[in-house]
Amino acid sequence: MVDMGMGGSVVSVSAVHQEVGVENALLEVRDLRKEYVTGRGRLRLFDGLSFNVAKGELLAIVGASGAGKSTLLHILGALDAPTSGALYFASIHLNKLSSRQAADFRNREVGYVWQFHYLLPEFTAAENVALPLLARGESRKQAESKALAWLDEVGLADRAEHQAGELSGGEQQRVSLARALVTEPRMLLADEPTGDLDAETADRVFSLIQRVHASHGLTSILVTHNQELAGRCDRVMRLEAGRMEEDLAKTGKPYLDDASGLSKTKTAGNGGC
Ligand SMILES: Nc1ncnc2c1ncn2[C@@H]1O[C@H](COP(=O)(O)OP(=O)(O)O)[C@@H](O)[C@H]1O
Ligand SMILES: [Mg+2]
Repeated sequence: MVDMGMGGSVVSVSAVHQEVGVENALLEVRDLRKEYVTGRGRLRLFDGLSFNVAKGELLAIVGASGAGKSTLLHILGALDAPTSGALYFASIHLNKLSSRQAADFRNREVGYVWQFHYLLPEFTAAENVALPLLARGESRKQAESKALAWLDEVGLADRAEHQAGELSGGEQQRVSLARALVTEPRMLLADEPTGDLDAETADRVFSLIQRVHASHGLTSILVTHNQELAGRCDRVMRLEAGRMEEDLAKTGKPYLDDASGLSKTKTAGNGGC
């Protein structure tokens, strides 16, 4: 049990444990610590994070630049290892996986969307989406057919044969969402997926993420700087000074955005997701 801080504005993580019981959790994080040893000494990023993410939950993680959000997402997706602590995905103890098992886990269970799409610009949208399936040995025909179905799902059936480099920023992010989900993972991790888009396009891409999250029964964790989009998720957690603050929606307390300085009060159970 980790006390998340002092004073009335911060809620103990024990509240999360009660709310997202272990039996409902897809992801369990226990006493997670991460340190980097740099030329200028030790950088301690997390100081004993413990939280659960429920099956089917859409969780937003917010926090100032440099707070460790990307590092946390990498660890949750088995792309990076914590310094200590335990991480369970369903019954899989992620820290115990060999690098080969971790690669297999990532391919099967996790879809990633990044701020920058990392599509191969010379390849078509369909080829980009098919790549994770080809990487795990599926036939070209099957991979193509699944890629086309996913491009249709993200509203880009008519762009399937376009080179990725020719698509707009919003279209590229929709292709990268299709690529993330074509393997039918149980968990979607998105690191500022709308950070590089204008407000209207960001809204459309976020709405698409919400839609596929719900229709495919995903468990999704979204890092965002966008206050409004975070507020549309089931729960918001803030990473700050190595600790995780719980969803302020549940307390009704104002939620201050570092970037804009705007504050907003969420009401519990807004059903935004
Ligand atoms: N491999 C690394 N070695 C040393 N420091 C790192 C490494 N990766 C990230 N950091 C540092 O950790 C901190 C958190 O980085 P990051 O997770 O990218 O934060 P955020 O995504 O919240 O902006 C930053 O200060 C960053 O410079
Ligand atoms: Mg980051």
